[in-house]
Amino acid sequence: MSLSQGSFDAVAGLFEKVSGIRLVAAKKPLVEGRLQRLAQQAGHARLDDYVHQLMHAASAEEITRVVDKLTTNETYFFREPQHYDHLKAQLPTLLNLLAGQPLRVWSAASSSGEEAYSLAMLLDEELGDQTRWEIVGTDLSTQMVQHGKRALYTLDRARNLSPARLKRHCLRGTGEYEGHVLVQRHLREHVNFGAANLMRELPRTLGRFDVIFLRNVLIYFDPPAKAAIVRRVLGQLKPDGLLYTGHAESLANLDVPVRSVATAVYAHAT
Ligand SMILES: C[S@@+](CC[C@H](N)C(=O)[O-])C[C@H]1O[C@@H](n2cnc3c(N)ncnc32)[C@H](O)[C@@H]1O
Repeated sequence: MSLSQGSFDAVAGLFEKVSGIRLVAAKKPLVEGRLQRLAQQAGHARLDDYVHQLMHAASAEEITRVVDKLTTNETYFFREPQHYDHLKAQLPTLLNLLAGQPLRVWSAASSSGEEAYSLAMLLDEELGDQTRWEIVGTDLSTQMVQHGKRALYTLDRARNLSPARLKRHCLRGTGEYEGHVLVQRHLREHVNFGAANLMRELPRTLGRFDVIFLRNVLIYFDPPAKAAIVRRVLGQLKPDGLLYTGHAESLANLDVPVRSVATAVYAHAT
């Protein structure tokens, strides 16, 4: 099934309105591939008919399904491990600044939750129950938010977890869950997931954080949108907090009030 240019433009416009992400013309085959199943499920043999229905009579749920399909959710445990090493080394400094408050970490484009649970593994190993800590994972995709809450992953997704970590933090599935791992309750009870669109006003309940991971999401935006996201996210970072971006996402050429503290690690400008 292929899309006419008009239908592609309509879907791209809808997606940009909701997510802020612009789908360039080269993404047309990807969009066609990702919408096939939804079109079939909605009873359409032609993608253009599905898009027509989407534009004129779609429910909010159907639009959410399309947005979920078009976001790129690639992630895995302990991706870009240098960041976890850096954070581990910074923990004593961060703990000194807490003044009795819990250490709060935000995974700001958490996808299916592996980043949030990797952070939880690190904090559990380093802090245990000595210090109160909590992690918030948010994503645009409600489907990804549900995945994070479910905490069930294929073994392939857990390929970067050492046997010791797997044993300490995960339960191996059996029967219908063979080939899967479930993140254990002692981590799950520190981690909360919710939906948040980085291109819009953030939920009031989010609060402020000592550490923010904003990784592998800025790449999808043009420079003005990137800068707007970084400024919004900095609004949630405590004065001495740390902001981690993906290694391919330098903030160097963006007009944002940060100073670099290590590769792809930033703090508020002084
Ligand atoms: C490639 S994943 C990154 C996951 C993780 N941070 C990592 O580095 O592995 C990008 C995520 O950004 C989310 N995303 C895209 N646009 C967003 C927006 N406007 N607000 C919040 N999340 C968004 C997508 O749904 C996707 O789950």
